[in-house]
Amino acid sequence: MNKKTSLLALLGVILLLAACGTAEPSDTAEPAAESTTSQDSGSGMGMGMGNMGGMMARHHAQIPADYAGMRSPVEADEASLARGAEIYTAQCATCHGDGGMGDGPAAAGLDPAPAAIAHTSQMLGDDYLFWRVSEGGGMEPFNSAMVSWKAVLDEDARWDVINYVRAIGSGQVMPMEQMGGAAYSPGSQAAQQEEMLTLGVETGVISEEEAALFAELHDTVESGMHSDSMSGGMDDRMQDSLSQLVADGSISQEQADAFSDIHDRLLEAELMK
Ligand code: HEC
Repeated sequence: MNKKTSLLALLGVILLLAACGTAEPSDTAEPAAESTTSQDSGSGMGMGMGNMGGMMARHHAQIPADYAGMRSPVEADEASLARGAEIYTAQCATCHGDGGMGDGPAAAGLDPAPAAIAHTSQMLGDDYLFWRVSEGGGMEPFNSAMVSWKAVLDEDARWDVINYVRAIGSGQVMPMEQMGGAAYSPGSQAAQQEEMLTLGVETGVISEEEAALFAELHDTVESGMHSDSMSGGMDDRMQDSLSQLVADGSISQEQADAFSDIHDRLLEAELMK
């Protein structure tokens, strides 16, 4: 290739890039009548889920029979939390961050990103957490860098670290400061949610009415997911909370169905972080 043709080729690439760059904003500025991402991203379970967002895969994951229904035998007392803190800081904080918000120094290169476990563990069952800590993410549907700890940490140590993660998320203990990363804060959570809903409306994934409904019900649904009898994954726990709210008359069945539907569309569009 001589100098002139390679220059022309380069110019072509630049023009192409410029065209892509300008096409994008006008695409997103106009709300589509229907989401493009929600319909055609694999709705079936099993193979092929590897392409789905990490959050999506986690929410719909089925807890294997070996783990389902398991309850923690280790009380979250001071001794357990102290042991958990030590394990967490040494083994988990590089990825999940000191405060368990998924923002440790090793998080940047990971896709799917480390989960904000300080927050999600408030809503997840003992059985789900113990399964995930034991088996890690090297399998369908996760395909993530999450480490399998069953060969490294004995069962009690795994429960200790789960106790600790829940305690930093609930504000019961302050996170150690070693690796870096933010602590869980309801304020930043609220700001993030508002940003997600704005983006959802802008990209046509949800309507403004749906964003308003989601914002109105979100905290109630989430607090219904925190309970003493914790078992199940994210999806099970959300459905439990919604049914309970319908049963006690706090919300209607229509609102529950709408919430679930909005929630799934936000997940599928990978807007939920
Ligand atoms: C090499 C990075 C890395 C390390 C180290 C690591 N994790 Fe993870 N972890 C991840 C990633 C990435 C995910 C998200 C994808 C997934 O769920 O598999 C995750 C997910 C999880 C989940 C599921 C949370 C949810 O919301 O579904 C739990 C629980 C968890 N990790 C706990 C731990 C604990 C406890 C430790 C330390 C004993 C640890 N992790 C160490 C990368 C890591």
